[in-house]
Amino acid sequence: MSETFREGLLEGKVAFVAGASSGINLQVARRYAEAGAKVMIISRSEEKIQAAAKGLRDDGLEAMGMSCDVRDYGKVAEAFSVCRDKYGEIDIVLSGAAGNFLAPALGMSANAFKTVVDIDLLGTFNVFRASFEHLRKPGASLVAITAGQAVKPMMFQIHACAAKAGVNQVVKCLAMEWGPENIRVNAVSPGPIGDTEGMARLAPSGAAAEASKSKIPLRDWGTKDDIGDACLWLASDAARYVTGAIINVDGGSEFGDASLDATKVDASK
Ligand code: HXC
Ligand code: NAP
Repeated sequence: MSETFREGLLEGKVAFVAGASSGINLQVARRYAEAGAKVMIISRSEEKIQAAAKGLRDDGLEAMGMSCDVRDYGKVAEAFSVCRDKYGEIDIVLSGAAGNFLAPALGMSANAFKTVVDIDLLGTFNVFRASFEHLRKPGASLVAITAGQAVKPMMFQIHACAAKAGVNQVVKCLAMEWGPENIRVNAVSPGPIGDTEGMARLAPSGAAAEASKSKIPLRDWGTKDDIGDACLWLASDAARYVTGAIINVDGGSEFGDASLDATKVDASK
């Protein structure tokens, strides 16, 4: 991807990124900042979020961090006030905080199920709901990070499947309710992304990773930058007529097992 696509794309804008002490969301925050936005990042761990914000500032980017659990509406509202006071009206909100682990339903307590639903789904509601009074209107762009589990049932993922399905509906409902204010609400649905905590948990061995790649139409996992660029586009005016969309950035993973190679089949037989 050429650097010209990104350069100055978000100049003068303010972005708030939830769940950004590591992984995909931190890379999205970096993309926003590299494109010219002032960025506020939040996550639970004070130590991790301050280290992440410092990492961005050390590279000459404008960023601040604040410890905040997205399950706590009061804290989320406070974080938006802090961001607004420091940087001004907020143009871009990314909701990506998530928790996940592999467990069968029978190995999951009610609290284990609730914990993931609270982080992913309630957290996304909290972040978007609390943002409203601080958003630049018209023109703000809200982006949620969802997952293929939202539409595809998976074993040992009952909590994440339920939570991310809810995230998709939060996105679509808010797109309808807030469209008249010209607030756009969309989601990016990453497929398996390399070098992330998510895939370390879901495909912990090399063999599991290779098996996963062999089934994907594009035959590889994605990168954090693949998600960063999609989120950058959605946040920019280039996506000004896009709302309520769930954008798959997944190498075609959503369609299931594509391990057969149809290009090698002898079509003459
Ligand atoms: C069964 C488990 C469990 C496990 C925790 N629990 N891990 N149950 N199997 N492996 C249960 C606990 O026993 C407890 O229930 C309840 O869950 C809450 O656990 P806590 O540790 O108290 O919760 P908390 O400190 O809030 O931590 C949340 C967490 C943790 C989700 C459990 O793993 C976390 O902090 N995760 C954040 C990082 C992360 O998950 N990153 C990956 C996101 S990627 P009881 O009944 O004992 O009280 C992702 C990939 C998507 O989403 C898709 C890829 C295709
Ligand atoms: P990650 O590095 O573990 O990122 C999760 C982030 O959420 C961390 O920064 C964590 O920081 C924060 N967080 C967790 N609970 C929180 C809470 N209650 N309040 C505030 N912040 C919280 O995982 P990742 O793999 O990059 O995943 C990022 C996003 O992509 C998630 O939404 C995930 O579902 C989605 N996704 C990932 C993949 C993949 O292949 N990895 C695929 C599809 C979708 P603290 O610990 O400091 O709170």
